[in-house]
Amino acid sequence: MAGAVEIYEVGPRDGLQNEAGEIPVADKVALIDHLSTAGFRRIEAGSFVSPKWVPQMAGSAEVFAGITRAADVRYSALTPNMKGFDAAIEAGVDEIAVFGSASEGFSQANINASIDESLERFAPVIEAARIIDLPVRGYVSCVVDCPHDGTIDPSAVARVADRLFAMGCYEISLGDTLGRGTPDAIARMLLAVRDVVPVGRLAGHYHDTGGRAIDNIDASLSLGVRVFDAAVGGLGGCPYAPGAAGNVATEAVAEHLERLGYDTGLDLDIVNTCAARAQAMRA
Ligand code: HMG
Ligand code: MG
Repeated sequence: MAGAVEIYEVGPRDGLQNEAGEIPVADKVALIDHLSTAGFRRIEAGSFVSPKWVPQMAGSAEVFAGITRAADVRYSALTPNMKGFDAAIEAGVDEIAVFGSASEGFSQANINASIDESLERFAPVIEAARIIDLPVRGYVSCVVDCPHDGTIDPSAVARVADRLFAMGCYEISLGDTLGRGTPDAIARMLLAVRDVVPVGRLAGHYHDTGGRAIDNIDASLSLGVRVFDAAVGGLGGCPYAPGAAGNVATEAVAEHLERLGYDTGLDLDIVNTCAARAQAMRA
């Protein structure tokens, strides 16, 4: 065995937030309940954001109320501000995530704030979570390029990752939001981020628009990253990153990792059945 690598399942959030048609809460609940039997330790199940910005996530409280929680799974949700935090607590989340960006253009488009304003907004959220011992994950989007600002310098990624880590995020997930990153660009970015955040606290979050996400995972593995976000069925994209395709498919990542000798702890048959279910939910 080459060691353990964890896949953080983000399909019910990142996978479904971008679907055009309305997906019934019951279908989301059924998908999450099915995923809960596959061996994941963390599942991103929803998002407490403005329903005007992301209508598809409006039913997240109902989703959390409807799922059957597995004892060894942490169910998380995105919380951009205190309003989202309060709603997430009310819904009984096990973990939250704040989401920033390495690019000013995407930060404005996605959360209507500059990078510095967003970090100020996250501070009370992270502090409120610390008081009740709730784990907080931090996302950095546009780690290699941005639909608005073009190529992103690795130092810009390192700066935001460093700030989020110092503020108390236990893990920093590095998002190739557009999904056009190459292994070289991902490696340059990781080398810069690794200097400021321990590599054991980093995760790769790679969309697969350019078909290089698995290569980007390989580049990240060779630099010590051992957590990867993925979405069953390869669903998803970000409504504020035009042209971005889905997250790398969980089933493809799991099969790839197992082939390389890594232990994912996942039941691949169940993951494949979940992938088929996720794809059937598409409009
Ligand atoms: P804003 O308009 O600046 O916020 O949006 P505001 O504070 O001025 O409030 C405006 C309205 O939104 C008010 O309602 C608030 O109550 C409401 P109104 O008075 O007009 O009826 N509001 C909320 N409602 C529900 N939940 C909340 C909330 N906050 C305010 N939490 C805001 C700022 C951050 C809210 C908005 O920009 C937003 O919701 N953005 C979310 C965008 C998003 O979810 N994007 C996708 C997720 S990020 C992603 O996919 C990338 C990632 O996967 C990594 C990668 O791939 O790179 C993580
Ligand atoms: Mg994403």
